[in-house]
Amino acid sequence: MSEKHVKPATSLVGLVDLPPDKSIAHRTALFSAMAEGKSRIVGFPTSADPQSTLSCLQALGIHTSQDGDALVVHGKGLDGFKEPRGVLDCGNSGTTMRLLSGMLAGQSFASTLTGDASLSVRPMARIIRPLIEMGASISGSQGESVGINHAGENQDDGSGGSGHFNRPPLIIRPPERTLSGISYRLPVASAQVKSCVLLAGFWAEGDTSVIETEPSRDHTERMLGLASFQAGNERIISVTGRTKVTPRMWSIPGDFSAAAFFMVAASLLEGSLIRMSRVGLNPTRTGLLDVLRAMGANIQLENEREVSGEPIADMIVKHAGLSGVRIEGDIIPNIIDEIPILCIAATAADGVTEIRGAGELRHKESDRIKAMVTGLRAMGANVEEYDDGLAIEGGVPLKGAYIETMHDHRIAMSFAIAALAAEGPTRIAGADIAAVSFPGFFNAIDALR
Ligand code: S3P
Repeated sequence: MSEKHVKPATSLVGLVDLPPDKSIAHRTALFSAMAEGKSRIVGFPTSADPQSTLSCLQALGIHTSQDGDALVVHGKGLDGFKEPRGVLDCGNSGTTMRLLSGMLAGQSFASTLTGDASLSVRPMARIIRPLIEMGASISGSQGESVGINHAGENQDDGSGGSGHFNRPPLIIRPPERTLSGISYRLPVASAQVKSCVLLAGFWAEGDTSVIETEPSRDHTERMLGLASFQAGNERIISVTGRTKVTPRMWSIPGDFSAAAFFMVAASLLEGSLIRMSRVGLNPTRTGLLDVLRAMGANIQLENEREVSGEPIADMIVKHAGLSGVRIEGDIIPNIIDEIPILCIAATAADGVTEIRGAGELRHKESDRIKAMVTGLRAMGANVEEYDDGLAIEGGVPLKGAYIETMHDHRIAMSFAIAALAAEGPTRIAGADIAAVSFPGFFNAIDALR
């Protein structure tokens, strides 16, 4: 297993070249494959997660080629996918597994989706339930029972049920009849579940709607131009079965979630000034910007504009003193991927930072509450753990330590930033996992020292 030694830094100055946005990248590949004809994706990332999506699509018979800096995807329309020869390996990527399941649920061939050790223990009941409601035949192959039988009947009778299992590998068989459109109220604020159901809706009869009460990232509906409307605190997004997807040209913004590490790094270290260009600023993703600014961070945006329907800007971050905050409620889904690095910012803030209502963190690439509590305590921080979050006392100096990344890219990168502000070197076990979303991450740090 790769281990990185990260030494403290005095200040970080310079430019960071961000990787293209991971969430958007997955979707450009998937939606291009669904379209009939050639789509061009400028700057498709080399990071492992989007590459997992691409290789699954190739295994489904989608041809891709490179033309200069553009990936060309030769989409074959809704009926163009071929039965894969082997299992579809989603690697570490929950987005690949959950969105692809939606696309495969209505196909006339069977498929099996697997993942690495981290993905293999992530919960899939959240997509299995709505897909079965639509008439799909899908099951996990290990873990707990989902509590529904093959006819889609509820078996939550306390017996454990004989129904579908919750964990990958996922086995999808052709449905007995064409999927039916449903109206589905999301039980968990999740863009992956929302997208999975809406994608299955392309192969369903009639309309499929998803109702969300807590906003989650809206890339799918934005990029596919799906109808949506707000009714009180509910947002309803719909698709009509067999809607054609048009091939197009995509340009992918820089990943806000990758920028987050450097927003915090520059804020923590005196004398720092970091510039990042083309940062994606989709409002369903930028909760950390608002929270850091509320904590006192010095973050400026310049040259605000749009690419491929997504707002972007250049960002300049300078060192600033921070104060603690409390976050919970509707902002949590917006900031969910950035909570690990927010915890690192909290260690340097005046007062306590408390994060609640974030139990979803326990179901990410690792149990991120546990991973942060364990790592922060190893570095000497005072941390309280809750079922649904954590509280961190700011102003307690961090010491270099040995950190386990739990096969989780955001844990690896968060503790690398903590290490820069700590006393003494930090050893990060399994640090290569950063390449899941940000292959150049450690080089970017070295270039800023
Ligand atoms: C993602 C949605 C989020 C996020 C993940 C990417 C997406 O997951 O944590 O990193 O691209 O749709 P959930 O939808 O499960 O919250």
